Amino acid sequence: MDREKIKPSDNLRELIPTFEFSDNSEKLNLSDFERILNKTFKEFSVVSNGGSGNASFILTDKNERQSFLKYRTHESIPWNSQRDKIFEDYEKDSISWIYRRKNGSWFCKELFSREATVLENWNQIGLPSPQLIQSDYSNYLLLEFFPQAETVASMISRDRSPRLINGLLDTLKQYREFANGTKNMDNIHMDLHLENILYDLPSDSFKFIDPGVLVKKDLSVAEVDAYANLFFCYTVLSNYFLGESVPQNTRQTIVSNYVDMLPNGMKNLMQGLNKPTPQYVMDFFSELKWDQKIQWHNSFSKDKFDLVQHYLK
Ligand SMILES: Nc1ncnc2c1ncn2[C@@H]1O[C@H](COP(=O)(O)OP(=O)(O)OP(=O)(O)O)[C@@H](O)[C@H]1O
Ligand SMILES: [Mg+2]
Repeated sequence: MDREKIKPSDNLRELIPTFEFSDNSEKLNLSDFERILNKTFKEFSVVSNGGSGNASFILTDKNERQSFLKYRTHESIPWNSQRDKIFEDYEKDSISWIYRRKNGSWFCKELFSREATVLENWNQIGLPSPQLIQSDYSNYLLLEFFPQAETVASMISRDRSPRLINGLLDTLKQYREFANGTKNMDNIHMDLHLENILYDLPSDSFKFIDPGVLVKKDLSVAEVDAYANLFFCYTVLSNYFLGESVPQNTRQTIVSNYVDMLPNGMKNLMQGLNKPTPQYVMDFFSELKWDQKIQWHNSFSKDKFDLVQHYLK
């Protein structure tokens, strides 16, 4: 699994430490930042400028070296605390709650700090993932960029050849070998779904990205792993995470093979933690007409729960 290490971009090494990241993130101004990028780089393009307080850029320096920058941009509008409380009470015992994303850049900070640490671990152990070039563990991450990579979620919608599925399963096996029995929280992929696995065409290999962070605290490493495994199964079965065109048998091949890799103790733990989104939560969001939320929670509804339990038996 040896590969050539890319060097940090000289320009970027100069740029990032000199950029003033304020503790008061509301003052961080994306257009100021873009102006600096414009001065320093031959080219940059915005990949996303999400609502969760971060933006992503592809940077091309004067020597045509490319890198991928995830950058903390702003404080999202805080949730109304009362509404937040209601949601937490409603959802607290279902998998969907564990993975519900928090708005606000305190979350983005936590996310970036964890992402940098996890990527370092993965880089060190040789788990296929982008090299972490540079980070301040809080405001930005600079990653090795794969210009010809595509997410497995997108690929699998049109290419369901056994080659792709087998390659994916081999890569997941590598991850499981690494994660099984680990004592370190920062080895675990906490947002494992097929949009967070890339297939890199030139090297004909898969890469794990975007290791995520769980909302629920005070869990053991095994419990975190168990939740992450449950989450993976649900996302493969759900149309919210994977296009409708992906047939059931493809999804089931992935889930059953993944579960087969798990030790029995892990499967038992998962069965105990596995809880569907309660109907009253679905009803609550239906009334609010929050389509996206409904779709999200639907991914963890009773029928999916039954399927996941079935595979865990
Ligand atoms: N190192 C990389 N090389 C190539 N493409 C990448 C790389 N990292 C991320 N991407 C692309 O950018 C997308 C978003 O990146 P990532 O998953 O790290 O962030 P995210 O927090 O999920 O962002 P978003 O909420 O916008 O999906 C990925 O799904 C992938 O298509
Ligand atoms: Mg992602």
